[in-house]
Amino acid sequence: MSLFQPLLFITAALSTVVSAQKPTFADGTSLASPVPRPTDLNAISVSATPSNSGGAIPESFVSYSIEFAFFPDFAGNSSQPNDFSNNLLESVREYMGTKPYIRVGGNTQDYALYDASLDVATNGIYIPSISTDYPVILSIGPSFFESYSTWPDTKFIHGFNLAKNTTAARESLLTTVPLACKALSDGKLLYWELGNEPDLYKTSAQGHTRPPSWDESDFVTEWKNGTAAIKDTMANACPDMVSASMFQWIAPSFAGTSNSLNPITTWKDGLDTASDIVLFSSHNYIGSATQPGITLQGTLMNHTSTVTSVSKQNAEANALATAGMTIPFILGETNSLSNEGTPGLSNVFGAALWGVDLSLYCAATGIKRVHMHQGTNYRYQSWQPIETDKTSMGTKAPFYGNVAVAASLGDLTAGGVEVQHIPMSKETEAVYAIYANNTLARVMVINMMEYNYTAESTNTRPHVAYNFTVPTSCAGNGIVQRLLANGSDAITGITFNGRSYNYEVAQGKAHIMGNVTKDEIVWVGKDGIFSVNVPWSSAALVQLSC
Ligand SMILES: *[C@@H]1O[C@H](CO)[C@@H](O)[C@H](O)[C@H]1NC(C)=O
Ligand SMILES: *[C@@H]1O[C@H](CO)[C@@H](O)[C@H](O)[C@H]1NC(C)=O
Ligand SMILES: *[C@@H]1O[C@H](CO)[C@@H](O)[C@H](O)[C@H]1NC(C)=O
Ligand SMILES: *[C@@H]1O[C@H](CO)[C@@H](O)[C@H](O)[C@H]1NC(C)=O
Ligand SMILES: *[C@@H]1O[C@H](CO)[C@@H](O)[C@H](O)[C@H]1NC(C)=O
Ligand SMILES: *[C@@H]1O[C@H](CO)[C@@H](O)[C@H](O)[C@H]1NC(C)=O
Ligand SMILES: *[C@@H]1O[C@H](CO)[C@@H](O)[C@H](O)[C@H]1NC(C)=O
Ligand SMILES: *[C@@H]1O[C@H](CO)[C@@H](O)[C@H](O)[C@H]1NC(C)=O
Ligand SMILES: *[C@@H]1O[C@H](CO)[C@@H](O)[C@H](O)[C@H]1NC(C)=O
Repeated sequence: MSLFQPLLFITAALSTVVSAQKPTFADGTSLASPVPRPTDLNAISVSATPSNSGGAIPESFVSYSIEFAFFPDFAGNSSQPNDFSNNLLESVREYMGTKPYIRVGGNTQDYALYDASLDVATNGIYIPSISTDYPVILSIGPSFFESYSTWPDTKFIHGFNLAKNTTAARESLLTTVPLACKALSDGKLLYWELGNEPDLYKTSAQGHTRPPSWDESDFVTEWKNGTAAIKDTMANACPDMVSASMFQWIAPSFAGTSNSLNPITTWKDGLDTASDIVLFSSHNYIGSATQPGITLQGTLMNHTSTVTSVSKQNAEANALATAGMTIPFILGETNSLSNEGTPGLSNVFGAALWGVDLSLYCAATGIKRVHMHQGTNYRYQSWQPIETDKTSMGTKAPFYGNVAVAASLGDLTAGGVEVQHIPMSKETEAVYAIYANNTLARVMVINMMEYNYTAESTNTRPHVAYNFTVPTSCAGNGIVQRLLANGSDAITGITFNGRSYNYEVAQGKAHIMGNVTKDEIVWVGKDGIFSVNVPWSSAALVQLSC
């Protein structure tokens, strides 16, 4: 018998009957176990109010960035909207209160040139010596902009090309301005962006677009010249979109904190003297797809690795604040391993657990939004929007992490949600307390001990009993909602709180599977103590009523 069997009990009845039989492990312990003996608890203390959170989380914290060239794959067009993608975005909205925000950008944003005669959305040419993952020569036609009309109630950031700056390229850019502003009228516009990762323009492995002498002040001059020219064009095409409340940018969208341009210098050089930048956007990847020595346990399922990576962003945000920057700091593009991810690492359930840890750590340290980057056939994608000869259409493991983050935060439209990081002793575990209006609402526990079920199928799946002390006002029933799969290497059979979001199950809508535990009751004692068993390579969200 598989030792994972205990998790497969049909536990629907548990949500109503506290004393009902709970799923048990081979060693006799249950998942949501009774209050433990007070002797060897080693309990994690969770305070009644947040003492060191990253501040209130704005709506749509769980957001996406979609590679410019592949946006029509993800969104479809007026005649064939991509309903599967929309169902997944709605599934996130069910927890978070709003749809994820969509940034349309990436490397290919800086390749795109407009071709008015193109009768399809994009015409991309791949140069395999540069990249097999995306086209490096790209034309877009008028129908590209139809893709902004397919998802209801969705807000977008449209990325303009800064890298190509010949007179012809600049004319091409300005020709797209009326198309973009009209496509994003009627409340679809969130912000604009000009340029993707300009800090790599002189060094990129995909080709250099600026000379070695190009420095921060040159970037600032070009950026301000470009945004001013876009404004002039937009004033004619969409006069209602150039007011201070509408004509807003994210910038500088650098690849990192220490490449060939220093983000703090750009700020000091007057990037925002027009006061039209509303979010400081930085990009982050934990490592690179082909970097030697990367492993699931050591690189992704490793809280220390995540903290180390995000801390560079936190340090940048602090330095910017010292330099007088007062706008929110976001990750406008991020994912596990740059260069589109690695099979066996970025596309497995372990990467979903990493995504939860990264996102909640960002939330807990004042990073105000996380846009997970997506592209057709990418190895770290949350979903594949269309069928191709490389990748089957469907929901991928990382999406389940996105849903779990949205569930952890809850409805953000009400305001007042804060996340506090609770330091743990092991780099394989992460715990977060989530507060709503200064009241403890949830605790998220991520057990990142690797359990590779392909390798371990004959061994018991270990679990850890996490013991908590919460305010006594939380006494009574808590509800445990699990992010689960057979193991860290699973690429399918993944659920959050017993729900599948797979395409083949319900086209991306939530579907309750009968064979996976959901809404388990956990008893919080009068002394505020509770215990929750968390199998290796899984996470448990405990909903409390405090
Ligand atoms: C939680 O408490 C139980 C005793 O009930 C103990 O066996 C277990 O080791 C504790 N968990 C941790 C992580 O210390
Ligand atoms: C709309 O999408 C469909 C399906 O991908 C495609 O066949 C068609 O060419 C697209 N229409 C335009 C105008 O791009
Ligand atoms: C384009 O970039 C070059 C440097 O590569 C710079 O000298 C030139 O001024 C830029 N052109 C515009 C229009 O910004
Ligand atoms: C941008 O720079 C070009 C070339 O230097 C100049 O002709 C143009 O007037 C500038 N545009 C704006 C809006 O500053
Ligand atoms: C986890 O990450 C830290 C920081 O990058 C590193 O020092 C440590 O060796 C990693 N752990 C494993 C098991 O590789
Ligand atoms: C916070 O309190 C306000 C006012 O009572 C309420 O409208 C809102 O829903 C609460 N927010 C959360 C996240 O519970
Ligand atoms: C999981 O185990 C299998 C079988 O040993 C191995 O092929 C695979 O590489 C492992 N996966 C990971 C992510 O370590
Ligand atoms: C997960 O494990 C169960 C029980 O062993 C098995 O029936 C199921 O096929 C597995 N799922 C996947 C996706 O491997
Ligand atoms: C649950 O049932 C579905 C089919 O209904 C199956 O594909 C899946 O592997 C099962 N999950 C587990 C964890 O056994």
